[in-house]
Amino acid sequence: MNRKDDIIVVQGNQTLTGKVSVSGAKNSALKLIAASILANDVCTIQNVPNISDIDIMCQVLESLGAKVDRKDHTLVIDSSFINSVEASYKLVSQMRASIAVLGPLVSRFGEAKVAMPGGCQIGARKIDMHLMGLRQLGVKFDVNFGYLNATVPSKLRGANIRLDFASVGATENILMASVCAEGRTIIDNAAREPEIVDLCNFLNEIGCSIHGAGTSVIEIEGVDVNSLHGCTYKTCGDRIEAGTYIVGGAATGGPLTVEGIDPDYLKTAIRKLRDMGVDVKIDKDSITVSRDATKPLRTVQVQTLPHPGFPTDLQAQFMLLACLAEGTSIITENVFENRFMFAAEIMRMGANISLQEHHAVVKGPVKLQGAPVSSTDLRAGASLVLAGIMAEGTTTVTEVGHIDRGYEDFVDKLCRLGAEIERKNPKK
Ligand code: UD1
Repeated sequence: MNRKDDIIVVQGNQTLTGKVSVSGAKNSALKLIAASILANDVCTIQNVPNISDIDIMCQVLESLGAKVDRKDHTLVIDSSFINSVEASYKLVSQMRASIAVLGPLVSRFGEAKVAMPGGCQIGARKIDMHLMGLRQLGVKFDVNFGYLNATVPSKLRGANIRLDFASVGATENILMASVCAEGRTIIDNAAREPEIVDLCNFLNEIGCSIHGAGTSVIEIEGVDVNSLHGCTYKTCGDRIEAGTYIVGGAATGGPLTVEGIDPDYLKTAIRKLRDMGVDVKIDKDSITVSRDATKPLRTVQVQTLPHPGFPTDLQAQFMLLACLAEGTSIITENVFENRFMFAAEIMRMGANISLQEHHAVVKGPVKLQGAPVSSTDLRAGASLVLAGIMAEGTTTVTEVGHIDRGYEDFVDKLCRLGAEIERKNPKK
């Protein structure tokens, strides 16, 4: 994996049909790995996706001194060997989510040194709310030579923390910093994503005391750091991976079933699919989509918002679907500024999209045409491969390392669903 120069060559006019199992959630597993720092013991994390972002988080833990053993989809992390509190620039610059070690490090060791994450292609992605929350718990910060140095001059004390925006990363860092603070912490306007619930369940398994996960108010009762212990925990299914295949099925007709996902995680997206004329059947842990692909879809209005709103990580996929709808659809991005890189690429395949600040106006239906395109980020990359599957002719997707960050066996899974796709290295 992560062969940088690889390309994905996609033959068009294909139908995706059959069953696909989703892997464990990337955005959950990454934080569970970070949270295992707190245990000072052995944590076994199951259903961990085999993707390059997880490779990097494992390297971050190893660089701190933890022993990490990875077999198939199970990670065994022994954090009792940790002897460093520094997350290097080399690792943090490869993956912003490395910042998630900040909370657990200050909680367990009273200090941390983490390279400042830079901006990224999908907007400024600041960490001011992470720092504001941790400061209220008693953490002091200074920035030297590109590193954020965190210290705890006296001790961490519980606090009432209100977030201006329900940030996923800030909620997670504050959670992990507060679990061993003296007294009670309340996070108001906390993020409600399923991955936050997964993290809280994991933290409770290792001995923390957290209530209200999945609601806007999370209460954390501080416990003694020495009372925490290891556990065995299974990561929840990846709702964004599931949503990506569902869009593939909806676009090409299906029937396509995704398994290993709680349909509740995708309520808003499912509602939008039904509004567009897609037949969606829900089971306990699977979702099936189908439709008559000879007819256009209905238009859609999508506004990305924190969960349970429409997920920004499915915005590009739905922009693709909107290209198949008869009339004008509007896609509004509220979570990240500058997250419309996909639009520029898909326009090269014939899409009719105009961008007006944080709105994309999509006119359809269009028959997309195969073209050489570049995968500008993780979700855009996956959506371009789907675009290639429904287009006329051949599409070549470059920069596929972005896709490897978040989709396990993307090409193989799509081939098993009937796509004609090949990953190759043009230099060989
Ligand atoms: C996480 C997910 C990402 C998803 C996003 C929103 C991981 C590894 N990534 O990212 O896939 O798209 O949630 O669901 O879990 N912000 C600030 N200050 C802060 C923190 C955030 O201004 O201190 C802003 C960001 O710039 C962004 C918005 O808030 O515009 C949302 O960010 P956040 O919810 O924190 O997303 P991440 O945790 O970075």
